[in-house]
Amino acid sequence: MEYKIRCVGLLTSGGDAPGMNAAIRAVTRTAIFNGIRVKAIYRGYKGLITGEVKEFRTQDVSNIIQHGGTILKTARCMEFKTPEGRKIAYDTMVREEIDALVVIGGDGTFTGARIFAQEYNIPIVGLPGTIDNDLWGTDSTIGYDTALNTIVEAVDKIRDTATSHERLFFVEVMGRDAGFLALNSAIAAGAEAAIIPERETHEDQLEALIKNGFRKSKNSSIVLVAESETTGGAQGLANRMREEHPEYDVRVTILGHIQRGGSPTAYDRILASRMGVAAIDALLDEQRNIMIGIQNDEIVHVPFTKAIKDDKQINPEKVSVLQILSI
Ligand code: F6P
Repeated sequence: MEYKIRCVGLLTSGGDAPGMNAAIRAVTRTAIFNGIRVKAIYRGYKGLITGEVKEFRTQDVSNIIQHGGTILKTARCMEFKTPEGRKIAYDTMVREEIDALVVIGGDGTFTGARIFAQEYNIPIVGLPGTIDNDLWGTDSTIGYDTALNTIVEAVDKIRDTATSHERLFFVEVMGRDAGFLALNSAIAAGAEAAIIPERETHEDQLEALIKNGFRKSKNSSIVLVAESETTGGAQGLANRMREEHPEYDVRVTILGHIQRGGSPTAYDRILASRMGVAAIDALLDEQRNIMIGIQNDEIVHVPFTKAIKDDKQINPEKVSVLQILSI
C-alpha cells in the first residue's frame, strides 16, 4: 500500500544524551527540506499521551547544535507501556495528523516504538541516543563520545589527587550494565584497570587485579568501574578491597549525571546530523521499524528487534590493550 508521509512526529525519550539537539535539528530541517511537516512532541511518549505537540519550523532548531540535553525534554513513560496509554497516544497522532514518527533514545525507547508500530501500523524510525553505547548494530550511539571525553577529563583530575596521596581510586561510570564507557575511558585515561559487567562471568575481576598486583613503581591506581548490580559498583568493590587489603588507601568517586551533560563533541554533532538526515531518507524510502546505525563510517538500517535484543559485544582486543598498557 502506498503511504505518503506528510507530517512526522519527533520525540526524545529515556536518558538524555549530548547530541540529541543536533539530531533534532537534522531531522527537522531534512523533513522540511523534503516538504514534510514536523511536529515536535515534548517529554517523550508522555507528550504523545498528554498532547504536548508543537509544529516546528526551521528556525525552531536554530542555535541548538552546540547544546547538551534535549530541547524537547525527555521522560521515561510508564503509561506508554500499557495498551490503554498507547491508544491515547495513537489518538493524539490522528488528531495532530502525524503519520510517522522519529524517536531518539535507547533500548527502552525502541522497545516501546516496536510495539506501538506493530499495534497501529505506524512507520517509525529510531535514532540511537544514549551515552551507554549499548545498542547492537551501531559502532557508536549519539552522546557516547561526549560522555567518554567527560569521563576522561574527570579521571585526569582524579589522577592528580590520587598521585599526591598515593591512593587507590574506584571511579564509577554509567553504562546500565554495559562496559563500553568504563573500558574505553580506562584506556584513554591510562587507568590501571576496568571492571565491567561483560567479564563478570569469566573471572573475579577484583581478585585478578589484586593477584596481578598494582605496579610497585606506581604510587597511585585508578580503576574504572561500570555501574552494575552484579559487581556491586565502585562502592561494593571498594568495601571488599578495604576488608581484604587494608594496606590500600581506597577512595570512591561516582561520576553520576555529570556524564550526561555538556556540549556535544564534534564527533557526536556530525554523527547526530548524519543520522538525522538518514532517518528522514529512510522514511521517504518506506523503511519502518528500524534504527539508524553507523558501521565503519557508513549509515546502516538495523531492525528494532536486533538493536534491542542482540548483545553488543565488548571487543576483547581492547581488554587486552588495557591489560598490557597498565603493567
Ligand atoms: O541509559 C542512560 C543512563 O545514563 C544509564 O547509563 C544510567 O544507568 C541511567 O541512564 C540513569 O538513569 P536516570 O537518569 O533515570 O537515573
